[in-house]
Amino acid sequence: MNGVGLHKKLEENAGLLIFGILFVSTIGGLVQVLPSLFQESLKTPTGTTRPYSAVELAGRDIYIREGCSVCHSQQIRPLLAEVKRYGPYSRAGESVYDRPFLWGSKRTGPDLHRVGGKYSDIWHRLHLINPRDVVPNSIMPAYPWLAERDANAGNDIHLKMIALRKLGHPYSDEQIEAAPAALEGLTDIDALIGYLQILGTWTKPEDTP
Ligand code: HEC
Repeated sequence: MNGVGLHKKLEENAGLLIFGILFVSTIGGLVQVLPSLFQESLKTPTGTTRPYSAVELAGRDIYIREGCSVCHSQQIRPLLAEVKRYGPYSRAGESVYDRPFLWGSKRTGPDLHRVGGKYSDIWHRLHLINPRDVVPNSIMPAYPWLAERDANAGNDIHLKMIALRKLGHPYSDEQIEAAPAALEGLTDIDALIGYLQILGTWTKPEDTP
């Protein structure tokens, strides 16, 4: 059978065509996925990267709950314009303790991967309660309820840490035991700011070639 005959046969037989498509896309998928499973640099924490503290972890959950990642990416690409605007580009090793990762692809607002330390805590507080108070033309929604809700409301942060430890995050027993107390008296906005202020601070600018 020549090439044209085989092609004709494939096109005329739906079952064979479906099998062919699945076969080819499986190869494509494996070529993409398999190498990353064995690449150590993707699993090794970069620089001072460490698991999130109880407060930061709670803040990260609030970030997810409030849908911040719908408008904000956390992934600086290695392009001159991005590095100049946001800082050193993101490394895979900075996300090893991000489950799920929040790289995102939508940027209605600026990338937040290196926002840690860029503003004071009070700036973030004012900005989250009403963005227009500090950035007059901002289109970001206001999140006033964050300042009223108890960050420890679910009282389950230590359970989350135990679950993450099963996945390989090196939390000690002491850290897990102390977690609920660390959130005592904090509101959602405190925890969220704690998280924002640590974002991207693991890798120092001089690490970037
Ligand atoms: C509807 C889209 C949208 C959502 C949702 C959103 N933001 Fe924003 N954000 C923006 C825009 C637009 C800006 C730029 C204007 C400004 O600074 O307010 C911004 C700016 C910021 C900045 C300042 C960044 C910088 O480098 O100047 C921070 C921090 C921030 N957002 C945090 C958050 C957090 C935390 C949440 C979730 C609670 C959130 N945003 C939700 C659109 C959004």
